[in-house]
Amino acid sequence: MVYPRQILYTKNILSFFQLNKKKNVKSNIDKFQTIFCKVFKTKKVLPIAMGRLGIYFACKEISDKSRNEIILSPFTIFDIVNMILSSNSKPVFCDIERNSNHLSLSSIKKKITKKTAAVIITHYETINPEIKKIYLFCKRNKIKVINDLAISIDSKLNRSYLYKYSDFSIYSFGFYKFVSSMYGGSIFVRNSKTLLKIKSKILKYPNYNLFDLFGQITKFILINFLLQKIIFNYFIFPIFRFGFFYDLNFINKFSKNDPNPYIDFKINKNLFKNLNISQINNIEESLRGLEKQRLVRKKNFNIYKKNLDNLNITLDYNEKLQGRSSFINFTILCKNKKNLKKYLMSKGFDLSQYFYRDCSSLKFFKKYGSNMINTKLHVKKLLFLPTHHKIPPDYVKKLSLAICKFYEKKSI
Ligand SMILES: Cc1ncc(COP(=O)(O)O)c(C=O)c1O
Repeated sequence: MVYPRQILYTKNILSFFQLNKKKNVKSNIDKFQTIFCKVFKTKKVLPIAMGRLGIYFACKEISDKSRNEIILSPFTIFDIVNMILSSNSKPVFCDIERNSNHLSLSSIKKKITKKTAAVIITHYETINPEIKKIYLFCKRNKIKVINDLAISIDSKLNRSYLYKYSDFSIYSFGFYKFVSSMYGGSIFVRNSKTLLKIKSKILKYPNYNLFDLFGQITKFILINFLLQKIIFNYFIFPIFRFGFFYDLNFINKFSKNDPNPYIDFKINKNLFKNLNISQINNIEESLRGLEKQRLVRKKNFNIYKKNLDNLNITLDYNEKLQGRSSFINFTILCKNKKNLKKYLMSKGFDLSQYFYRDCSSLKFFKKYGSNMINTKLHVKKLLFLPTHHKIPPDYVKKLSLAICKFYEKKSI
């Protein structure tokens, strides 16, 4: 049996030991623009230290004293909210739709005031089904659209990559991403003057060096070691299963991707770095397999859909619009999630019940909008199933059938 977590990280990191071969920031940016353009057909992008920095840059450019409100879904990582605050803008939370990950135009409209400067649209395993409508509405009303494509770099709508429906788009090349380079991100900027302005800023930053990346590289080696089949099967997975069965928070928190949220009004200066040539080469390499991998994930996604549709626990996926999404996982919303997860874990399936938190329920963010009923419910019921391109369809089928079996015995 191959477990999803065993195969999530397989990149060869040795190339990172040749970090400082070239220090020329400008030529690195040029190279990045060329390789990005080959796939995405635009050169209006810049490599940046992390995806979140793109939110900071975009908000800095958009906001001023009279218009500084940035509407966003609370279903995201807390760092995004902090980036908005660090840019002197004000986050305004907007609830997602029921039975969906996404914001709708009608709910966005309710949050718009004279001070609205921009809307951040986060795309998940599927694209926001109203992105075109939202973009056109915002354009007419002089509100900027920032697409958060951190986990959906390869999603398309009508044959166009999603940056086309935005003024700014951000991408992440972080540790867990499909296009990964330890740390890294990129920003698409529609306006050429603004693009040059941001470029002139980043030209002054130094490249990431081995010291900056040392922590990530060590983590990478350690994780790869712990994910070795025998170590994972007989040591790591049983610990996590034990933690989950007996509700042991000190173990369970390791399965969260942001276990210790905080509020921060100041940008961390460590973000003012540039990607070095090895990171850019790594991105080039990962981009090559992008579409092929997306198609494998789509296949896995459709196996879940086919098998689980009748159970009434799948999201409202619109096949016509969502056919070119990133499909990075398959989300189900179930009432008795804990029991389902226990059942699946007892059958040897490793699942994550944690995707994003409801940022509006964090005490220190409450003043930016609370009572996001749909998001709250969503987070409570959500379980996500792996679609990774290295997961064989057979595993996906077995997992789907185990879920069906669970619901045969229990009412949903
Ligand atoms: C939805 C979303 N937006 C933004 C980011 C930020 O990306 P980065 O970690 O490169 O800053 C992430 C990271 O996981 C994310 O999941």
